[in-house]
Amino acid sequence: MAAASSSSLLLCLFSLLSGVSSRYEPNWDSIDKRPLPAWFDEAKFGIFLHWGVFSVPSFGSEWFWWNWQHEKSESYMQFMSKNYPPGFSYADFAPHFTAEFFDPDAWAELFQRAGARYVVLTTKHHEGFTNWGSPVSWNWNSVDTGPHRDLVGDLGAALKKRNLRYGLYHSLLEWFHPLYLLDKKNGFKTQYFVFSKTMPELYDLVTRYQPDLLWSDGDWESPDTYWNSTDFLAWLYNDSPIKDKVVVNDRWGCNCSCHHGGYYNCADKFSPTTLPDHKWEKCTSVDHYSWGYRRNMQLHQIMDEGSIIFDLVQTVSFGGNYLLNVGPSKEGLIMPIFQERLLNVGKWLDINGEAIYASKPWRVQKENSTCSIWYTSKGSVVYGIFLTWPEGNQIKLVSPKASPSTNVTMLGLTGELRWKPDPELGLIIQLPSIPPGVFPVEFGWTLRLEGVN
Ligand SMILES: *[C@@H]1O[C@H](CO)[C@@H](O)[C@H](O)[C@H]1NC(C)=O
Ligand SMILES: *[C@@H]1O[C@H](CO)[C@@H](O)[C@H](O)[C@H]1NC(C)=O
Ligand SMILES: *[C@@H]1O[C@H](CO)[C@@H](O)[C@H](O)[C@H]1NC(C)=O
Ligand SMILES: *[C@@H]1O[C@H](CO)[C@@H](O)[C@H](O)[C@H]1NC(C)=O
Repeated sequence: MAAASSSSLLLCLFSLLSGVSSRYEPNWDSIDKRPLPAWFDEAKFGIFLHWGVFSVPSFGSEWFWWNWQHEKSESYMQFMSKNYPPGFSYADFAPHFTAEFFDPDAWAELFQRAGARYVVLTTKHHEGFTNWGSPVSWNWNSVDTGPHRDLVGDLGAALKKRNLRYGLYHSLLEWFHPLYLLDKKNGFKTQYFVFSKTMPELYDLVTRYQPDLLWSDGDWESPDTYWNSTDFLAWLYNDSPIKDKVVVNDRWGCNCSCHHGGYYNCADKFSPTTLPDHKWEKCTSVDHYSWGYRRNMQLHQIMDEGSIIFDLVQTVSFGGNYLLNVGPSKEGLIMPIFQERLLNVGKWLDINGEAIYASKPWRVQKENSTCSIWYTSKGSVVYGIFLTWPEGNQIKLVSPKASPSTNVTMLGLTGELRWKPDPELGLIIQLPSIPPGVFPVEFGWTLRLEGVN
């Protein structure tokens, strides 16, 4: 024991002197050892924004171009022939990406009131259009055409004023870029696209905007060695201006997702049913069918506030962050129905956020007793969140072990709740009858337990 600690002390001193210990090498063994900056786990809730040229047709989904011209999907072909002249190309949509109502301060205020702690914007989706003036995306960027505006920079400045963290979504691949198609034809043995497009843009995004998070995507067709991902990440962690704060996800090459990188997204809408042993994030969309805005969206196709709160609670109790997507319109508006959903989540978090932000998973994540309970914890405090109000105003918790000094309160109410030990297991809590209006969102309540094990 003593020998081990003195040799590790020596090693530590040696590393300090030689100054090499903290440098990451361009391989996954080394990259995967980097501790995740703490802000990310504490933040818990973020807003995801899919915005681009696909917001112009705003039909189907953000995969419009692919579904129309690659899949040749019937509904997309019909949509085009009915509404646009023959020969109309996807690029012809770009000038109509006007963003004339884009008010970044209003967006930032909305996201703050929603209780989000970070925001992730598509800087470039698989269509390749960049929402900033990328020097290597000539005439296919938001400064040369469309809004004639640096959308990435303008949103970033507004978020910064409100202390919201900023994440940049970036697609490694571009469906129809000629150099990408050439590399693909070469079995990804050449890297023309990576060196002339992907890497210059990633370095540009990092140095220009100094984001808190890089949300990589579009990695699945080729291995990380094609993308040079570990070289980029080693630079990001060792030498970039954001090396201490930056967080990345796991989409850096096929088979990376859920195995390598920073935190794990795994699949879209990933919902584990047991506690993962690695920090993760669930990304999902208020519109069940699309991440980009669809004008043909129907009310029954979007999440209601109850299902959003349920999803948030379940995600956080299993140690995840929750990244909830809304698609802005081509004019730069976030539809009132999305605003309403987000504001209700914010009202719920105003009361229940203590059990969410900076919480840790408890030893039990979920139990079914009187009704389903999801647990989180903070220090010695345990939170039990239930989503439907039990009949008879009584609730039984089986997992917490109570003691005579146990105290139970409910977030949003003053005063302690009466409870008694259950003869078999856990405790039975008497809930008050609550007049309407005390809780602005009548869904999901949090019990705060002190002095339980
Ligand atoms: C990725 O995983 C699949 C399935 O396990 C495997 O067939 C494929 O060879 C892997 N690709 C690479 C680049 O490792
Ligand atoms: C890509 O990675 C290879 C192998 O690690 C390295 O030799 C090369 O310099 C990298 N290129 C760029 C442009 O990052
Ligand atoms: C808990 O309830 C869910 C449905 O709400 C059910 O699928 C599951 O089997 C139940 N688990 C236990 C341990 O009773
Ligand atoms: C419960 O509340 C009582 C009275 O306020 C206090 O003395 C006691 O320390 C509390 N128990 C715990 C575990 O905090």
